[in-house]
Amino acid sequence: MNFDACISLDPTDDAVPLYKQIYNSIRDAILDGALESGTRLPASRALAEQLGISRMTVVNAYDQLLGEGYLEGKHGSGTYVASHLPEEFLRVQVRKSSAVKTVSRSRRLAFSDYGKKLARYSERIAHHHSASIVVPFQHSLVAAEEFPFDLWAKINQKHLRFSSRRLGGYGDAAGFGPLRKAIAHHLRSSRGVRCEDEQVIVTAGTQQAVFLIANLLLARDDKVWLEDPCHLGTSDVMATVEAKVSHVPVDDEGFNIEKAKRDRRPARMVYVTPSRQFPLGMTMSLQRRLSLLEWANDNEAWVIEDDYDSEFRYSGRPLPALQGLDRADRVLYVGTFSKTVFPGLRIGCLVVPPDLIDVFIAARALNDLHAPITDQMVLADFIVEGHFEHHVRRMRTLYRGRQAVLVDQAAKHLGGFLDVGPSDAGMHLTGWLPKGVDDREVSTRVAEHGLRAAPVSRYTNRKLERGGLLLGYTAFNEKQINAAVRKLAKIAEVEFNF
Ligand SMILES: Cc1ncc(COP(=O)(O)O)c(C=O)c1O
Repeated sequence: MNFDACISLDPTDDAVPLYKQIYNSIRDAILDGALESGTRLPASRALAEQLGISRMTVVNAYDQLLGEGYLEGKHGSGTYVASHLPEEFLRVQVRKSSAVKTVSRSRRLAFSDYGKKLARYSERIAHHHSASIVVPFQHSLVAAEEFPFDLWAKINQKHLRFSSRRLGGYGDAAGFGPLRKAIAHHLRSSRGVRCEDEQVIVTAGTQQAVFLIANLLLARDDKVWLEDPCHLGTSDVMATVEAKVSHVPVDDEGFNIEKAKRDRRPARMVYVTPSRQFPLGMTMSLQRRLSLLEWANDNEAWVIEDDYDSEFRYSGRPLPALQGLDRADRVLYVGTFSKTVFPGLRIGCLVVPPDLIDVFIAARALNDLHAPITDQMVLADFIVEGHFEHHVRRMRTLYRGRQAVLVDQAAKHLGGFLDVGPSDAGMHLTGWLPKGVDDREVSTRVAEHGLRAAPVSRYTNRKLERGGLLLGYTAFNEKQINAAVRKLAKIAEVEFNF
């Protein structure tokens, strides 16, 4: 296709900036198949001259398309339509098809009560849980280039060649035995979790663990207390079960059980991130932990402990898990390998009280039977042979360094616009905006320039006193962080007059 034909510009359209119009035109042409993978794009200067616009406008459009994975290559050596377009883009193409829409509009769909709730929230959920776009400052990503994939592949190869008897059948719904044992050992020694091997159930990440807990232990109209702000994976699950949710604002010591108790009705379940509150980063104090457990015991309530990134503590000793203090079996401990290994692995764990083991295994069996057996085998060896510990130690050092670069660069370039302090743990920092600046607006502007910085207000229904941005740093090297901070500073100057 003639490239010029795919660009449609309307300089009189005030609502859509020119760079965005170019971006939209190229993106649509890719999604419609008019621009095929591998097609070379004109140099930005040439295109700018041809269209009679500034080169910077074209560069901005190309940058965003590069950042989102539609294009690949460098400006100097040529820019091409990406050879592998992630599935999410193809989904967009399917949604664009009017034929598909017509079919789905012409039928009345009868759902279960659960299906009705899910259908109501499906668009929001799909948005919250779409594939990651690996651009600064996307949070919750790992330094994939540092992961020992060769070693992982070698262990995998070994199992594919020598474990054929096991691979000929189904696995255990509770998880691969040696993996449960390895996880139990790790949790006891590193996180102070009190458990027998049998209490560990291998899950498809935190997401499945929270889903199973909510669906097994909450009855219609039961009250659930969520931290406010809260991890979306959890708040979306709770929005779709029959529970009634109350949001309890966190303070410097994390979840405040005394404040929660003012609720007219006590909760049947509480969700907390005690090691490091998501997304704000405070640690729940010992006093609060003990009060929460005492309250849970008195009220026969369940406590979900989401211990998602406690391995990344950069100074001091990590506080042991809340579960280790629980003497009444009220805590369901949830762990994940998404941060320590890689998120696409989709393996996590759930430690349940002994009297809940059977029902959780049954639920897992009916849900998806079990995680892929080879991945479980590889992970078991990876832990038992010491590679896991070694990798986490390396990443801790790397991530500490990357955080320092971000703090340093932010102090140099973002002063007055974004207040970014260091943190002794975690995988992202929260940068606070000046009062009155809307974090959703900033996040949208930033995305238009090829960066991703989630607004804090996405995680709460309350109006915040000050908006903020989540700045993930773990998946980006020094050069990328430096460049991204400068870009952010430019956006602050040009679009927000800072
Ligand atoms: C609070 C919290 N819990 C858990 C997870 C990990 O979820 P999963 O194990 O399903 O990948 C994340 C990832 O971002 C998170 O932010």
